[in-house]
Amino acid sequence: MVSFTFNSLILSASLAVATIATFSTAAPAVPIHRSKAGSDACGRLGSKSVRNIKYKDVADCYKAIPINRNITATTISAVHDLFRDYYVFTDSALTPQVSAPFASEPVDILKELTTIGGRKYTSDYQFHTDVRHAVDTLRDGHASYDVNCYTNYGFEQNLTLYAPVMDGVQTLRVYKDNAKRGYEDCIVYKIDGNPALAHIRAWATKRGYDVEKEAFLDESGEFAYQSYLPDKGYIDYELHCSNKRPSGPIRLREEWNVYPQTEIAFKDVKSYVANVCMMAEDETESAPQGRSRPHRRNLAIPIKKRDLENDDDVTATAVGAPRRLVQEFRDAEKLVSGNATVFYHLKSQPDTGVMVVYTFDAEDEEVNIVLKGLTAFHNRNVTKILVDFQGNGGGLISLSSNLVQMLFPNKQPRDASYEADLRVNKSVQKAAAVGFMTDDGGYSTYNANEYYDLQTTGPASRYNNNDLFAKPVNITRNGRATLYSEKTAMYFDPLSTKIVKALAKFPWTGRRENIRILTDGRCGSACGMASYFWTTTHGVEAYSIGGTKGEDLSMFSFSGASVITLKDVHNTYAGLNLTSPLEELAYKNEVRFSWLELYGKNRTTPLEYDAELYRPRHRLDYTRENARSREVMWKEVVAAAWKK
Ligand SMILES: *[C@@H]1O[C@H](CO)[C@@H](O)[C@H](O)[C@H]1NC(C)=O
Ligand SMILES: *[C@@H]1O[C@H](CO)[C@@H](O)[C@H](O)[C@H]1NC(C)=O
Ligand SMILES: *[C@@H]1O[C@H](CO)[C@@H](O)[C@H](O)[C@H]1NC(C)=O
Ligand SMILES: *[C@@H]1O[C@H](CO)[C@@H](O)[C@H](O)[C@H]1NC(C)=O
Ligand SMILES: *[C@@H]1O[C@H](CO)[C@@H](O)[C@H](O)[C@H]1NC(C)=O
Ligand SMILES: *[C@@H]1O[C@H](CO)[C@@H](O)[C@H](O)[C@H]1NC(C)=O
Ligand SMILES: *[C@@H]1O[C@H](CO)[C@@H](O)[C@H](O)[C@H]1NC(C)=O
Ligand SMILES: *[C@@H]1O[C@H](CO)[C@@H](O)[C@H](O)[C@H]1NC(C)=O
Repeated sequence: MVSFTFNSLILSASLAVATIATFSTAAPAVPIHRSKAGSDACGRLGSKSVRNIKYKDVADCYKAIPINRNITATTISAVHDLFRDYYVFTDSALTPQVSAPFASEPVDILKELTTIGGRKYTSDYQFHTDVRHAVDTLRDGHASYDVNCYTNYGFEQNLTLYAPVMDGVQTLRVYKDNAKRGYEDCIVYKIDGNPALAHIRAWATKRGYDVEKEAFLDESGEFAYQSYLPDKGYIDYELHCSNKRPSGPIRLREEWNVYPQTEIAFKDVKSYVANVCMMAEDETESAPQGRSRPHRRNLAIPIKKRDLENDDDVTATAVGAPRRLVQEFRDAEKLVSGNATVFYHLKSQPDTGVMVVYTFDAEDEEVNIVLKGLTAFHNRNVTKILVDFQGNGGGLISLSSNLVQMLFPNKQPRDASYEADLRVNKSVQKAAAVGFMTDDGGYSTYNANEYYDLQTTGPASRYNNNDLFAKPVNITRNGRATLYSEKTAMYFDPLSTKIVKALAKFPWTGRRENIRILTDGRCGSACGMASYFWTTTHGVEAYSIGGTKGEDLSMFSFSGASVITLKDVHNTYAGLNLTSPLEELAYKNEVRFSWLELYGKNRTTPLEYDAELYRPRHRLDYTRENARSREVMWKEVVAAAWKK
């Protein structure tokens, strides 16, 4: 199936399948003498047993880490140059007024980083926090700045929230009370003294993410689970509960549950910096990019044993491989399940099958499971398919392209391929000159032969020279002129004729009227890619659920498919025996960025900024019922989609 290994390695993703460790019974990492621990903030933290760690312990340790101006100087220089010369949206991010359903401010990331570089910081923690916030303002799901030093603990609230619409009114409510006090569905009237819904929206906007991305569903959501030190040690809630006596407001001051994310031992500030923060000698080089990249923090989910019983969501062992449990439903029969998909037959709507695609972080061989599932539907006389993309944060774009073709086999070879271009710079050209047709240890980022030449005849001819990088075009965006490659293509092989033949007998194949998709704000990256192709190229109608009632909502939060890291850039140059033009960071890090930009068919604005292509045909609101049962939600979509 996969003849093109390069693409199959491209992660589009922010993999939603997070692995968050919960070492709840572990002993203190390093037992140390009390009086010695007492005088050193990280010593106190390191000596505590895991279940006794409080917000303040982590805050004190983080804030005790001394600033090293050499480290901050090289950090800001590397990150600045990365965003100046390699990040593909540096100029697009200056767009003054993006159109609905987007609503982001213009960002001059280079100016931001320069400003940070010019400040005289006294706190190392504050410096790295400011860099992270600056990158987050780009609102690019593929751009992030994380240093292990300050992600060593995760923070979770016992209350998780959602915003259902009831009798036409949207209110913030408690989705789940993990402390089992029975606050489910109490109205959250205020948070930290502010009107609750407005507070959540302001928080999400400040974080650089749209409130639409907030899930409020099974996962804790980014508000209730934070992988960075929250601003303060608690959140104040004012609840109104109709089922509680007396029914007056209930005021809660909820502290954070703290979960260590590694088992790395340390006994004081010095060893915390050496063991947790600093890059070890042998860590400066890592394996070529593959499937098992660490997850992106914003989709991190704390996993607890008690959740395993009835959730259909992610489960994980400490730092182990993510695994999903499949939920059983009373009115939906599970026919087939694989590593990314589950096929349900709706008992009350026997002509309808639901294909849940909860991730693209699986092998390309998953298409065989998809074929098996679709065949099972066909054997049940199913004629209509609902695709459920909720919570799908991406994965392999090759699998995404294959899935698109499983319902709409390509008529032209490139029907499920994007046009794309990338940044070209002197330093990129230097790598490309050596990289053409060379094996650089698996990266191939700058090997033109791995890209498709749209100028030559034939729909799928790879570049057989280095023109892609040697002959760039000068594009001016928002007043800045920058060099890009000419348009190339992300090419994916069409399905095998054997599969296409099997698909041909299904009554829904190639028929948009028999297919609907259901998305939420968490559908991103490779999920955005499949949503785009099905809706725009094939005219399938999408239902998007969540967001703020009465306001625009996009059907996916960002499109596939391009993410590499600073480390990948270093490794590319190293693989070519060239010196990387970017400095190495002293801290262990995960600095991600988009390196190519994609375009919708016949469009000139990059898809990331082409707001119109994100608008779903239909909107749905969460209710108390559908938020807690996908089965209820599926029936609502099916009833609305195929009205008799
Ligand atoms: C910073 O770098 C300079 C020059 O390389 C070196 O002399 C100095 O010791 C370094 N300071 C720290 C705190 O690492
Ligand atoms: C959250 O709830 C659990 C279960 O009741 C409880 O053990 C824990 O202390 C609570 N956490 C906080 C921070 O109050
Ligand atoms: C699903 O994952 C398992 C475990 O990684 C693997 O052995 C199996 O081949 C995968 N199945 C498919 C269809 O890719
Ligand atoms: C599917 O339809 C065929 C033809 O109407 C019928 O013979 C068969 O029993 C149906 N199968 C199922 C599982 O309902
Ligand atoms: C990349 O090109 C820009 C101008 O196009 C230049 O200012 C910058 O120094 C170049 N960077 C490298 C590393 O060559
Ligand atoms: C790109 O075009 C701009 C304006 O047309 C010009 O100022 C700039 O020098 C050009 N850059 C390159 C690298 O050719
Ligand atoms: C880099 O150097 C190594 C060792 O000398 C050599 O084996 C390899 O072929 C070189 N790679 C490239 C791309 O020149
Ligand atoms: C793109 O343009 C071509 C030629 O004008 C047209 O045939 C095709 O339908 C367009 N495709 C889309 C998706 O708009």
